[in-house]
Amino acid sequence: MNDLDHLVQAAADEFSAAATPADLENAKARYLGKAGRLTELLKGMAALSPDEKKTRGAEINAAKQLVESALNARRHALAEAELELQLRAEALDVTLPGRHRGIGGLHPVSRTMERIEAIFGSMGFDVADGPEIETDWMSFTALNNPENHPARSMQDTFYVDMKDAEGRWLNLRPHTSPMQVRYARAHAARYAGRDPMPEIRVIAPGRTYRVDSDATHSPMFHQCEGLWIGENVSFKDLKAVFTDFCRTFFETDDLQLRFRPSYFPFTEPSAEIDIAFASGPLKGRWLEVAGSGQVHPDVVRNFGLDPERYIGFAFGMGPDRLTMLRYGVADLRLFFDGDLRFLSQFK
Ligand code: DAH
Repeated sequence: MNDLDHLVQAAADEFSAAATPADLENAKARYLGKAGRLTELLKGMAALSPDEKKTRGAEINAAKQLVESALNARRHALAEAELELQLRAEALDVTLPGRHRGIGGLHPVSRTMERIEAIFGSMGFDVADGPEIETDWMSFTALNNPENHPARSMQDTFYVDMKDAEGRWLNLRPHTSPMQVRYARAHAARYAGRDPMPEIRVIAPGRTYRVDSDATHSPMFHQCEGLWIGENVSFKDLKAVFTDFCRTFFETDDLQLRFRPSYFPFTEPSAEIDIAFASGPLKGRWLEVAGSGQVHPDVVRNFGLDPERYIGFAFGMGPDRLTMLRYGVADLRLFFDGDLRFLSQFK
């Protein structure tokens, strides 16, 4: 190796060692700058003979070209590395799922509630809302369920250790039936001067509470009450209305209804309403969907109406149950666990 080979090698080594463009420019200055080693060699040729100048000049220029190409190669490599770093920092995995806000959807029980309201709405029923913390009188007494009567234990009520302004004990309503009384009393008061009074036709959906918890019972559940009172409303109207409702709700005429004699203090006679599908996985099984009956005269009296004149029917159904049947859900608790994997299937 002659001196020029050494110089080229040294320059190449320094360039390789430069970790940044600034380091590289400093290294370049040491070889190609005004006071750089190659520049000094060229200056040193002044003392040579013309022949020597020619050969030495060619050698130095060749060495200079090698140094310059080593410099350019390193510049290129550093620029590439920098770009690589930048790309990595800004890396974007286009295969990742997007981070978006779901648009959400209605809870399956809310869907059922909306269906119930729409169907009864189309039959001329009003929709009423009422308090979930009720008085003892509304929950029981007004519904012909006197204090200390054993029928009160049909419902495992959550009592509230508190009385209202009039000194009446409070509870978390165990059914929506108190809404019959609230709505009918308000209606009777509003139309006090009208003879005959316009018919009462209302449903009252909402949350209800009982000390109960298993796969088909939840301490909080839903009910929807129905009430139709007029001068000439009979059990056959109940049958027609409820049959129509069930067939519309389940979107099939292949459905049977059975009115099975039962007991409720607030109706006489009383019936449980069972349905049976003509096809599908539940084919032929009687499924209880509601309690119902002709409103008891004592209850009509508590509405503020004359039971000799006004008569009608009431029913109370379970929207949670209807939702389970409609979607084939076996465990009621799934509705109230708030697990999006379950709930998002109903969007
Ligand atoms: N309130 C009853 C219950 O929770 C259901 C019910 C039965 C409501 C008969 C009614 C009715 O309006 O007429 O079990």
